[in-house]
Amino acid sequence: MVSFVTGAYILAALLFILALAGLSKHETARRGNAFGMAGMALAVVATLLLVLDYLTDDLIVDKTPIVIGLVIILVAGTVGAVIGIRLARGVEMTGMPELIAMMHSFVGLAAVLVGYNTFIEVASAHSTVGGAVGAESGAVHNAEVFIGVFIGAVTFTGSIVANLKLSARMRSAPIALPGRHLLNLGILVVSAVLMVWFMLTDGWVGMAPLAVMTVLALVLGFHLVAAIGGGDMPVVVSMLNSYSGWAAAAAGFMLGNDLLIITGALVGSSGAILSYIMCKAMNRSFVSVIAGGFGSDGAVSGEARDYGEHREIQADDVADLLAHASSVVITPGYGMAVAQAQYPVAEMTKKLREKGVDVRFGIHPVAGRLPGHMNVLLAEARVPYDIVLEMDEVNDDFPDTDVVLVIGANDTVNPAALEEPGSPIAGMPVLEVWNARDVIVFKRSMATGYAGVQNPLFFKDNAQMLFGDAKDKVNEIVAALG
Ligand code: TAP
Repeated sequence: MVSFVTGAYILAALLFILALAGLSKHETARRGNAFGMAGMALAVVATLLLVLDYLTDDLIVDKTPIVIGLVIILVAGTVGAVIGIRLARGVEMTGMPELIAMMHSFVGLAAVLVGYNTFIEVASAHSTVGGAVGAESGAVHNAEVFIGVFIGAVTFTGSIVANLKLSARMRSAPIALPGRHLLNLGILVVSAVLMVWFMLTDGWVGMAPLAVMTVLALVLGFHLVAAIGGGDMPVVVSMLNSYSGWAAAAAGFMLGNDLLIITGALVGSSGAILSYIMCKAMNRSFVSVIAGGFGSDGAVSGEARDYGEHREIQADDVADLLAHASSVVITPGYGMAVAQAQYPVAEMTKKLREKGVDVRFGIHPVAGRLPGHMNVLLAEARVPYDIVLEMDEVNDDFPDTDVVLVIGANDTVNPAALEEPGSPIAGMPVLEVWNARDVIVFKRSMATGYAGVQNPLFFKDNAQMLFGDAKDKVNEIVAALG
């Protein structure tokens, strides 16, 4: 049975690798998901078989704890599956990041609990048997427990803060305490000292350094993410994704479960690679992400500034402008997802292309609330892939573009990122739409975007606001185009 389970674990690990490979491209993403689901199903079944194997092991005299454990696994698994299915079915695409952040917090909490459980198990064995654990293996084992609990606790509170920020239940502006980097460094140094103490102890004495470190790590997780401004949250979510992977790998070490180590390492390293890619796209340094509180020096500006008057336009006039244009670039953002405007946008694109207008899309790497959010929506509405371009591919073309339609985007087209050094989004590359001849901004009000920064684009001479729900307004344009 054990060799069967080992074989199943290897197969599951391969399926997880294929899942990651599949998820790296649009065209293969569905297949990637299917591989991932198959791998996880196999892993769950194999683990249950492993538990059943203990039940038939003649060397184990008292089987009651195993039966109780199995019942708990089955009940908890069923309850978890029901909650998971309900959450996943009910969640809007736009609410996905906060759900993911919440799930990361569960992984972090699980690593903390596994760590404490492992510690308690060894400590009670030590107190009953009297020094059952050899000094060396004890130190290595203690290090595993300590690191696992540390990463888990940071991931737990960090992910809760990310969830609160993403769901707007906590203000998205950075909470910048004075000397925050020193505070983070202090926690790391104290934790390292506590780790040495913990490694050298046996039995219940270790509870003191473990408990103190857990509190410090919970504070660190909270503080690291609270210090990060709204516009930089995408990188944080992918970073927490990576942390949750390492927390799972640490739990795998503590439980002696190879598959958990492999899976955790896969999630940890792919999350780190994604964070690196996002950091490059957002012009942020990788180290400063890990240090927390990057992207601003704490001096938040950009609000309460007088940029002048904005101008308004109506849908009929936009249709007229479009019909007489030769080149149009559409830059969608989170508002297109909220309005579910991708279908009328696809129809408008088709009509304009039939009239001979060159229509293309410019996609910012963090437009919307998920990596690739806009690409998924446009693919769903069957907009041809070849006219959907990345920010870098389209940014130089704006001076030669007649009309730009900014559909529900805000932070990703905000010139303050380039022009106002104190802004929370300073340094973030943006779609330089203001260089086009005419810019039409589709939104419902003059409200700020996710980062909470006013957008000077709306007040530029060549920009006009088309107020209303993006889907309604694009439908009106489609009707006017005839
Ligand atoms: P945002 O800056 O979030 O702005 C979206 C705009 O859409 C809002 O200003 C809103 O204005 C408008 N809007 C909302 N509902 C609308 C509707 N029904 N019809 C028309 N307009 C509507 O969008 P963005 O430019 O896509 O930028 C994304 C932001 O989210 C960035 O700051 C990014 O860092 C952050 N973020 C991204 C991710 C990823 S990975 N993509 C993850 C987390 C956070 P009104 O309220 O006035 O309508």
